[in-house]
Amino acid sequence: MCGIVGYIGAREAQPILINCLKRLEYRGYDSCGIALLGETAEVHKDAIRIEALERSLQPNDSQAGIGHTRWATHGKPSGINAHPHTDCSGTIAVVHNGVIENFLQLREQLTSEGHTFRSETDTEVIPHLIEKYYKGDLEPAVLKALADIAGSYAFIAIRAGCDELVVARKDSPLIIGIGDKEYLVASDVPAVLDYTDRVIYLEDGDLATITQGTFKLTSNGKQIERTVHRVPWTMEEAQKAGYEHFMLKEIHEQPRAIQNTFAGYISALEPEIDLGIRKDIDFDNISIMACGTSYHAALVGKHAINKLVQIPVNVDMASEFNYSDTILGKSLVIVVTQSGETADSLKALKKAKELGCYTLVITNVVGSSATRIADDILYIKAGPEISVAATKSFVAQLIMLYLVALAHSAIDTRSRGSLLTELRQLPNRLYEILDREEEIAGHGKYLAGYDNIFFVARGINYPIALEGALKLKEISYIHAEGYAAGELKHGPFALLTLDTPVVAIAAKDNTYETLLANIKEMKARESPVIAIAEEGDAEIEQYVDFVVRVPKVDPLFSPVVNVTALQLLAYYTAKERGCPIDTPRNLAKSVTVE
Ligand code: M6R
Repeated sequence: MCGIVGYIGAREAQPILINCLKRLEYRGYDSCGIALLGETAEVHKDAIRIEALERSLQPNDSQAGIGHTRWATHGKPSGINAHPHTDCSGTIAVVHNGVIENFLQLREQLTSEGHTFRSETDTEVIPHLIEKYYKGDLEPAVLKALADIAGSYAFIAIRAGCDELVVARKDSPLIIGIGDKEYLVASDVPAVLDYTDRVIYLEDGDLATITQGTFKLTSNGKQIERTVHRVPWTMEEAQKAGYEHFMLKEIHEQPRAIQNTFAGYISALEPEIDLGIRKDIDFDNISIMACGTSYHAALVGKHAINKLVQIPVNVDMASEFNYSDTILGKSLVIVVTQSGETADSLKALKKAKELGCYTLVITNVVGSSATRIADDILYIKAGPEISVAATKSFVAQLIMLYLVALAHSAIDTRSRGSLLTELRQLPNRLYEILDREEEIAGHGKYLAGYDNIFFVARGINYPIALEGALKLKEISYIHAEGYAAGELKHGPFALLTLDTPVVAIAAKDNTYETLLANIKEMKARESPVIAIAEEGDAEIEQYVDFVVRVPKVDPLFSPVVNVTALQLLAYYTAKERGCPIDTPRNLAKSVTVE
């Protein structure tokens, strides 16, 4: 996830900006840059580490500037795509986090008005818009530019000749650190902690104009004041935003992550999806390959594509496909990989290409090996995932696979429209589950006392049972099995006792009644049963020991809410057992061996 910083005060800005950027390194980045305010906006940026940028700099006595660490989403990591971005004359410079959804239209419009663009980024439209509206005062020009922008942003703008930083926020975090006769701006608290522990958290719609000794804050045009908070965190606590583990932080980032995934692909007004991938590919089946959690996302994708596109879909574990005689035929091959570096998935991708298939990779990491091999790429834009256990990348993969299914679906515009409306509501549904964290934590404590646990479901939630079990085993070291609920009676029933709890996902779809029958069979074998069930389902209570409630959503999207509950369940079970949650034994974030 990109990081932005800004400084204005009585000291030299350059070393402070570099230090602030280093404090944001934990978020991951592929390029970085700074701009110093003087007679020009002096920009230094490249696809290099911050230390290398620092070594390349000459001393500079400017007392104001901005900086950025980029985690590429629009355009590959490169010096040109790195921030800060400038206008035509190079006097206005901007660093930005977020996604400008209408950047293509704005870019076209500005180009027709004579602006020249250098990068592939969405951000670059911001300095050009400010340039267009600049009439001698930076703040009004920024306000006019904001009126043209649709999407999310946290940005800082500077202009040579104006001794000020103008900062604005909508749907992307931004704080102002208040030091002694100096101000710092950043996307995250750790960036400023070496200089101050007094911060203001900006809200959506806020715009601040900051000079060396003054600071004016407006919200939707009206001057306001916001509380100055004292941050009680150490640097490490701050990097986790106060969460005990990155995994928990990343689960909490899921609503935002999935908003980023669909932003840019779904039109704000029409029920249309434009994935920006080739549309003229001739295929009569889809073959998806992936590993681990990504494989579970692929299995959900199969259900979604089968339902909406009605085309044969085959899902293979990449590691198995590589040594199989699977016949691909006229297939569109989709490889799903968060890191884009998993050796088994890369091998499968290469094999599919050699077999003459058109290949599409769904990944989180711009410029990863998979993106250099595949014919087409879809980025899930979940932001860097630090915990070994995949969480937000999984839900973002689900959203992307739903978009692929919807984009190729033959359903009528109205049905597509209502599914897209539901999809847009999913972030809010996830917030509702996060509100129940304490209750889920209680169930986690209970499960922590067992050594063997089954996760069962049917239909589109069967892969979520697999994922729930994988999450639990990888971080809590409890032996867990994901099973199709109807399969337990074909063998695993022999293991069901009072000491073998079952977590059953009871989605209200065409599998519900049969699943209830399966739960009764499990109870007859004395297994404690925890159900994951939607609100309003009163029936389930009479058959199970505990119910974890999830919000009601279209059954197609129920995997997104169910898995979030299971991730929290796994997290709190592992926490109760005192496990090193972010770095489980024997595992690596990216598995680069076969
Ligand atoms: O980067 P990838 O999505 O290709 O990684 C695949 C698996 O190694 C990964 O999902 C793994 O299963 C996770 N640690 C699960 O939490």
